[in-house]
Amino acid sequence: MRVGLGVTGGIAAYKAAELLRCLQEDGLEVQVIMTRAAREFVTPLTFEALSGHKVITDLFPSSAPGAGATAAEGNAQEKIQAEPNTESAIEHIAVAQSIEALVIAPATADVLAKMAHGLADDFLTTVYLATRAPVIVAPAMNINMWRHEATQANIAILRQRGVKIIEPESGYLACGMTGAGRLAAIENIARAVRETLGMRRDLENETLLVTAGPTYEPIDLVRHLSNRSSGKMGYALAEAARRRGARVLLVSGPTHLVPPQGVEVERVKTSDEMADAVLNRLATVSIVIMAAAVADYQPASVIQGKIKKNSRPLSLELKPTRDILAEIAERRQPRQLVVGFAAESDHLLENAAEKMRAKRTDLMVANDITQEGAGFDGDTNIITLLFPDGRAKSFEKMSKFQAANHVLDELVELRKTVAQTGIFTSPQS
Ligand code: CTP
Repeated sequence: MRVGLGVTGGIAAYKAAELLRCLQEDGLEVQVIMTRAAREFVTPLTFEALSGHKVITDLFPSSAPGAGATAAEGNAQEKIQAEPNTESAIEHIAVAQSIEALVIAPATADVLAKMAHGLADDFLTTVYLATRAPVIVAPAMNINMWRHEATQANIAILRQRGVKIIEPESGYLACGMTGAGRLAAIENIARAVRETLGMRRDLENETLLVTAGPTYEPIDLVRHLSNRSSGKMGYALAEAARRRGARVLLVSGPTHLVPPQGVEVERVKTSDEMADAVLNRLATVSIVIMAAAVADYQPASVIQGKIKKNSRPLSLELKPTRDILAEIAERRQPRQLVVGFAAESDHLLENAAEKMRAKRTDLMVANDITQEGAGFDGDTNIITLLFPDGRAKSFEKMSKFQAANHVLDELVELRKTVAQTGIFTSPQS
């Protein structure tokens, strides 16, 4: 989902960078729009670097600095904009139509007045008039300006029109006065955006440990045993859980993926390192999802240096790796939920159900890796969720992110059962 973040000119403009971060952690794509005055406080570059998008600053290309602005403002504009501005006068319509919400933080008395009276002399106020998306405004200003009848009348007009106002907080103000006028806490603004967009926060009280990717089991100095796991399923689970409010620890085997924002990552290589990382953290988490394709075998001994080639056949002795899920089953606490994955090439449901019994998980995510669009490397998966009471839910092919959300939906349901009864319904736990 894409939201517009309008930043106007006040001391609190720098706090919009933190808000941008929060919104991104919730999985939102953010298009920042700055007014001219905002650019006196923070440079567009800050927001550009954080958002990964060009910041929109003006209605008209900088080649026509006078357009829509006074001559003095036009000069200022030329100085501030290092690159030529390619926005066209109709771009605001495209932006207005592409966003799911417009949040303006901080909002000055000036922008509130313009919005209340329908003035559209810059990009932000034009987008405000042109968008049908919900609008959230977080004012910040001097206490007297906030209390002024004019400002309060403008606020009343905007409220009446359905604009959500996140009231400023009381405290020490930049002007040296104390009272109402400080920008509301960033978390409160972010929460209002989430609520407006109907985003789920049903994992807010959970700490998830998710494993992802393959493991490398060294043979000698330069070679290892591994598998084709890309880590995409585990990373999708971590990202989906983070967006739904969970604290997430991602224990990742070697992958090329970029970890989702707001997720704590511990990188490991071998199954032994993964076992240590998971079991050391087990006591601190409420849910464990073992999405990693942990190697089942490792060389019985690691050869020092590099094995040299000769003409004779070479045998490698392998020994089983530690079964992390089995160790979790031994140590888990009553309120912890544990999810396993079963990647199978035949007898999907029987094998997955057997794994669930053996490893005492509360949920098993089974997938038939021989099916097109399921399993290791791709962006999609075809999953069946198995429950200890024998129920099974099968899903069509979908993105790994959607599949992740189905897994999380079941965990939310399982958690409700645990909360009501204090125990799992799972006969094994
Ligand atoms: N798993 C684990 N530790 C291992 C191997 C697997 O914790 N040493 C976990 C995986 O992360 C997965 C589940 O166990 O959640 C099932 O993994 P899978 O490889 O499908 O099952 P195995 O028990 O290894 O059985 P097999 O490979 O014979 O199918």
